Amino acid sequence: MSSTFKEIYKTSITNPEEFWQKVSGDVFWFKKPTQILNKDKPPFYKWFCDGTTNTCYNALDIHIDQGRGDKTALIYDSPITGNKKKFTYSKLKEKVSKFAGALKNQGITKGDRVIIYMPMIPEAVIAMLACGRIGAIHSVVFGGFASNELASRIDDSKAKLLVTASCGFEPGRTVEYKPLVDEALKLASHKPEKIILYQRSGHEVKLNAPKEISWDESLANAKDMDCVEMNANDFAYILYTSGTTGIPKGIVRDIGGHIVALKWTMKNIYNINMDDIWWSASDIGWIVGHSYIVYAPLFKGCTTVLFEGKPVGTPDAGAFWKIISEYKVKSLFTAPTAFRAIKKEDPEGKFFSKYDLSSFESLFLAGERADPDTIKWAETLLKVPVIDHWWQTETSWAISSNCTGIEMQKTKYGSACRAVPGYDVKVLKSDSSIAKPNEMGDIVVKLPLPPGTFPTLWNADERYKKTYMTNYEGYYQTYDAGHIDDDGYIWIMSRTDDIINVAGHRLSTGAIEEVLSEHQSVAECAVLGIADKLKGQLPIGLIVLKAGVKKDNETISKECVQMVRDKIGPVAAFKVAIVIKRLPKTRSGKILRGTIRKIADKEEYKMPATIDDPAILKEIEEDLRKNNILK
Ligand code: COA
Ligand code: AMP
Repeated sequence: MSSTFKEIYKTSITNPEEFWQKVSGDVFWFKKPTQILNKDKPPFYKWFCDGTTNTCYNALDIHIDQGRGDKTALIYDSPITGNKKKFTYSKLKEKVSKFAGALKNQGITKGDRVIIYMPMIPEAVIAMLACGRIGAIHSVVFGGFASNELASRIDDSKAKLLVTASCGFEPGRTVEYKPLVDEALKLASHKPEKIILYQRSGHEVKLNAPKEISWDESLANAKDMDCVEMNANDFAYILYTSGTTGIPKGIVRDIGGHIVALKWTMKNIYNINMDDIWWSASDIGWIVGHSYIVYAPLFKGCTTVLFEGKPVGTPDAGAFWKIISEYKVKSLFTAPTAFRAIKKEDPEGKFFSKYDLSSFESLFLAGERADPDTIKWAETLLKVPVIDHWWQTETSWAISSNCTGIEMQKTKYGSACRAVPGYDVKVLKSDSSIAKPNEMGDIVVKLPLPPGTFPTLWNADERYKKTYMTNYEGYYQTYDAGHIDDDGYIWIMSRTDDIINVAGHRLSTGAIEEVLSEHQSVAECAVLGIADKLKGQLPIGLIVLKAGVKKDNETISKECVQMVRDKIGPVAAFKVAIVIKRLPKTRSGKILRGTIRKIADKEEYKMPATIDDPAILKEIEEDLRKNNILK
């Protein structure tokens, strides 16, 4: 490892307070923190606890104060609708201050929760920043989730207000938000007081005043709002992510650490300066969208692209190259699945050759393991470094990465590079001892975690402690397994819980099982993620019927698929439910999901010593073959 990176990393681990105090000098504080890290109640560490600041001030006002108000903050490009728009920092501030006034008029104040359920339009970003301006806590819900998921987030956050839009556009399909919201409000026990709905042109929907008002109406008497002074440990947002049950976990982000860490990452990890154009092709409903479409680039003061489209089909596999060349994008961040989709449609890069990508310097991939084939294909096509980096909703920024702004490190295909400054990553064995280099184990991070990571779960301190901080005392358990090699490179191999990664989207197989179990003919079931060339993993369900069920298997399978779509949402990409006679179990009754997955993926497996009846595995293999899962 060369010295610059090594030294910076070392200081961040041996003296984190000194390291982050220095970094915190780069952000705007109403009151500078004097205490950098409060360690009074582990594992509840608090960064910058006596500092006061504001998220929106650091995203917008600071740049205007510094004379950069005319610089483009946000570029919106929607190949689906044909709309394009640019917002300077001054213009964006004007829109955000006004919408903050609209929120205020609806009684929203410091600490209130606001759900944002919107497509990828500038108003979604404006709503997020407006919440920050007046100290409200936003909770963005991804548009691909169904009413049930929206309802569980409304209930858990006890949101006072919901901001939505009349519709979103998926290739070949209009997503009508209003019926989804109506259904969610029926299902939720907590009822938000107001709904503000952005009417997309040509797709206006009927609203029931006075509870439901349009975005434009909400702005009618709104005054511009200034940024309110917030404590560094107040919360900026809640982002729900899949847990091991159907109840999602509310990951919270505190204000001060979020600003400090994310701003630092733009230069140090991504090598982005103020004058650069940056693009994260994700969705604001995910953590990548929160951190790298909205917050980090705006904290940095560069230009960020908001893209309402897909890597393929909007209209073709050249969509990414078009954006990069049109706006002179320097770096792109997306999920490997997007590149697999492009590679599948245009393996020779015919679309690529139509565009001038001379501005383009690097591609960052995360969200799932980047398979070496995809990385090599992208490198050959783009002729720029392709960087796999690893992170989680819990951390909001990369745990391991090639820190290109500090010092370029060599690529090892299949590894997400070294730990980023701030993260002391270890691999532990089940007896809590530290694994040797190259030895597999649970990947953990020594506490305290750096700023910007989750200080707790929304209203669930105990769940935070029990889920993440208890199995290995003094460490944060990432629930990823893998190893660290002799050079300190981290290799993320699999999850250790029931989370699967479908097209870079994080899903819980447990939550899908809960839905399938609700079908009246289903006695028991197992859901597993099997390998998929495009999406990385795909969920499949194996269901055992109750005795005496008369309905035919095909009808039951179809109903199960529809139930998952209705209850979790299209994003689950759940298309296969196979009726089987029985599930393989251990003698103590545990379903052998891991073994079934290995059979489906044609991996070698050992006959589990505790299996109750080995013949079931042969039956399962046969069922998978009949259903074209095993070819
Ligand atoms: N609102 C409503 N529905 C949505 C949605 C949204 N914001 N996003 C996706 N969906 C729907 C899709 O329309 C699709 O529905 P369908 O079953 O009716 O076809 C379903 O959810 C699955 O979507 P997706 O996983 O996106 O699959 P896809 O086949 O439509 O597209 C890719 C495949 C690879 C092109 C797509 O997954 C992609 O662009 N991925 C980029 C990576 C990414 O954004 N990752 C996020 C974390 S970084
Ligand atoms: P999310 O919280 O949705 O960002 O998902 C986080 C999970 O995605 C991690 O715990 C990993 O399992 C997986 N993941 C993210 N990035 C990578 C990567 N670069 N390599 C392997 N797995 C990854």
